[in-house]
Amino acid sequence: MNSEPATPPIVIALDGPAASGKGTLARRIAEHYGFAFLDTGTLYRGVAWLMLNDGGDPADAKAAAAAARTFDPQKLAGADIRTKEVGAAASVVAANAGVRAALLEFQRRFAAAPPNNAAGAVLDGRDIGTVVCPDATVKFFVTASPEVRARRRWLELRENRPDLQESEVYQDLLERDARDAARADAPMSTAADAELLDTTHLSIDAAFAAARRVIDGVFRRCG
Ligand code: DC
Repeated sequence: MNSEPATPPIVIALDGPAASGKGTLARRIAEHYGFAFLDTGTLYRGVAWLMLNDGGDPADAKAAAAAARTFDPQKLAGADIRTKEVGAAASVVAANAGVRAALLEFQRRFAAAPPNNAAGAVLDGRDIGTVVCPDATVKFFVTASPEVRARRRWLELRENRPDLQESEVYQDLLERDARDAARADAPMSTAADAELLDTTHLSIDAAFAAARRVIDGVFRRCG
């Protein structure tokens, strides 16, 4: 029998508002360190998509919680969860305590036992450093000005929606920010021990270099 205690996986938490760059950054970090990656927004988007697809109302608290309890990411194969409508509905289901409770276990299991025996996990979302993994090894709160975030999101969305106005995306973003930050259960907020990373004037490479400096510094200190 091996009496060595198992080393707990390294967890890197990235929280922040929509289009702050946290997803791109999280993916780069996971790739660089060989860690597993979970975009937790896809879980909320997935529940929202399933509801919309069934003709349901994302604001129906009971139905949304039931959809989250039986949520299976496999059911989303081919689903377009990146639309503006699914994003807005995701923010509504994310304010539902029943939905959050159902998805919490999934996220914690991922962090505690990353797929493919990876030595660590990178999770991005709104409440990773505060609620899902309060003991994460490194925490970031990634942000950028609303104008820059709206521009980034508009450039992405307009590939499939050439008629979409930037002002509409900007307005949606402000509404989502307000809903995500104001909800009673696990609101988007900065963990006290999170490193603040403002990407307003940073390229992806520069943001990644800044994040690496922080992570490598923590790894050196922890041996
Ligand atoms: O990051 P995103 O845009 O894909 O997230 C979609 C919605 O899900 C967002 O409005 C807030 C919510 N969300 C959340 O409440 N908690 C998380 N950990 C991740 C996302």
